[in-house]
Amino acid sequence: MANLEVEVLGMRFRNPVIPAAGPNVRDGERLEEVARGGAGGLLSKTISVDAAPVPMPHMAAIKGGFINTELWSELPPERWLAKEYDIARRAADEAGIPLIISVGYTAQEIAQLAPKLKPWADALELSTHYLGEDPRPMIEAIDAAKSALDVPVLVKMSPLGREMKAAALAAKDAGADGISATNSFGPAFGMNIEKGVPWLGGKNSYGWLSGPALKPLSLRCVYDIAQVVDLPIIGVGGISSGKDAIEYIMAGASLVGVCTAAIMRGNGVYGKIAAEIDEWLDRHGYSSVEEIRGLALPEREEVNHG
Ligand SMILES: Cc1cc2nc3c(=O)[nH]c(=O)nc-3n(C[C@H](O)[C@H](O)[C@H](O)COP(=O)(O)O)c2cc1C
Repeated sequence: MANLEVEVLGMRFRNPVIPAAGPNVRDGERLEEVARGGAGGLLSKTISVDAAPVPMPHMAAIKGGFINTELWSELPPERWLAKEYDIARRAADEAGIPLIISVGYTAQEIAQLAPKLKPWADALELSTHYLGEDPRPMIEAIDAAKSALDVPVLVKMSPLGREMKAAALAAKDAGADGISATNSFGPAFGMNIEKGVPWLGGKNSYGWLSGPALKPLSLRCVYDIAQVVDLPIIGVGGISSGKDAIEYIMAGASLVGVCTAAIMRGNGVYGKIAAEIDEWLDRHGYSSVEEIRGLALPEREEVNHG
C-alpha cells in the first residue's frame, strides 16, 4: 500500500481525493456520507448571504459531460450556521480529516460571512464564479477573507475568459494560500431532441459544463498555474478515476476535487478513486503519492516563491 496522505497548508488529508462544491455536499448529512465514502477531506457547498433560487430543471447528463445551472447553496447561511456545519465538523473530526468551507462571492459578502465560520472552518475556499474577468473583485474577496479569519484561504478559479497564469499570480500577490482549478466552463448548451427543447428548460437554457469533457481544459489550467506559482493546487474538472486524478497530480495538483462523478455514482466514489490511485502507485513502484506530484512539469518559468 502506498502512502496516500497529503499535508496541505498545515492540514492532513488521509488521501488526495476530496469533494468539489456541488449538490452532493449540499448539507451536513451529505458531508457525513462523503466522509464515510472515503474522501481525504471535506469541502462544503458554496454559501452566500442569501439562499440561492433553484431553477428547474437545473442539471442534465449529456454525452461526454454534464451541464447545470445550479447556483450556490439553496439553504440560507443561518441554516448552515445553526445545524449543517456542526454535522460536517463532527463527521470530519470522526474521520480525522479537515473541513474546507466554500463561500462566495464579493468582498462585502465574504466580510459578512467569513467571521461567522470560525468555529468550523479549517480553511476557506472562495468561489469567483460570478466575479467576471477583472481580477480586482477576486483580490478584494481574498483580502476580505484574510482579514476576517485566521485560516488558509484557497481561491477557486473560474476559467471563463481568464488567463490562468495571470489570475494565479494575482491571487498569490493578494495573499491567497492555495488555488482550486477549475470551476465549470460555459455557457454551454444541450438539446433534448425528443422534446425539442433545451435540456435546461426555456429561460435557463444555458448551463455550465462539467464532467469528462472538462478534464483537458481544467488540466491545462492546473498545469499552467503550477508553472508560475508555488502554492498548493486543488485540481478539479472531470475526474472520475484514479488515473484521472494522477494526471492532475502529475500536472502539479496536491489534492483533487470531484463533483460530477459523485452526482452520477454517489458519495462512495471518493474512496474508490483513492483506492485506484493506491493500486496504480503500487503497480508502478511508487511508495507515496508525493513522489508523483508535479512529475510532468517542465522547468518552472517564473516560480513566485514567497
Ligand atoms: C450541479 C453542480 C453544482 C455546482 N455548484 C458549485 C458551487 O456551489 N460552488 C462552486 O465553487 N462550484 C460548484 N460547481 C462546480 C464544481 O465544484 C466543479 O468545479 C466542476 O463541476 C468541475 O468538476 P467535476 O467535473 O468533477 O464536476 C458545481 C458543479 C455542478 C455540476
